[in-house]
Amino acid sequence: MSKDVASEDVVSEVDVSTIGEDVPLLEGLRTTRAIRRLKPDPVPIELVKKVCEAGTYAPSGGNRQPWFFVAVTDKEKRARIANLYRSTFREYIVPAKEAARSPDYPEAKKRNMKAAIYLAEHLHETPVLLFIAGWTRRDQPQSQALFPAIQNILLACRAVGLGASLTTAHRAHGEEIDTLIGLDPHKTPSIAMLPIGWPKGRYGKPTRRSIDKCFFVDSYTV
Ligand SMILES: Cc1cc2nc3c(=O)[nH]c(=O)nc-3n(C[C@H](O)[C@H](O)[C@H](O)COP(=O)(O)O)c2cc1C
Repeated sequence: MSKDVASEDVVSEVDVSTIGEDVPLLEGLRTTRAIRRLKPDPVPIELVKKVCEAGTYAPSGGNRQPWFFVAVTDKEKRARIANLYRSTFREYIVPAKEAARSPDYPEAKKRNMKAAIYLAEHLHETPVLLFIAGWTRRDQPQSQALFPAIQNILLACRAVGLGASLTTAHRAHGEEIDTLIGLDPHKTPSIAMLPIGWPKGRYGKPTRRSIDKCFFVDSYTV
């Protein structure tokens, strides 16, 4: 399977065992960006399992591996989750929308905002809503133990040509959503939701500050 699978039309037959295995690690991570415009076409559940397996190679404190991955494909559940997500997101995005009216608002930020709005408005059509959850420790959610796994999953999505992005806005309705998908909101809360599907666009380098602006040796200097 070629590296450009992301740009092809819906992949109807996927060889789960070989797809994504040929993407060089550094090239893959430099070209992993948030892909929020997704086709509604289904994604093989075995492929979702493959990207989650990549997640399990992440480090965790004491190698406790506290993670659970719940891939929501059920149409009604996705619609309910999307409604709850939108009810938070529409409020959250108001200041950015207002700021974006200014003529000096950077184009890249505007594009990012529009993509985030698109995702929210189309969330119910996204074929897979992948929730990453984990055991609490001393009654606290262990976000730090899950984010390395989450990043591995995003990179694995890039490798196999699936579009994905990292979201947490659902947490405002965490109890309701966790209960809907069988998680105990107090013992194994979800930390993040990755909407996953075949991308409409292409992967490519995201906008980032130059390393020259944030790398220092021995001491930080302004
Ligand atoms: C912890 C965390 C939570 C985020 N939550 C959301 C979210 O709820 N909704 C959303 O649209 N973007 C969210 N984002 C932002 C995007 O996932 C993405 O990282 C950002 O827009 C940069 O996109 P780029 O990699 O294409 O440049 C979150 C990012 C982080 C790191």
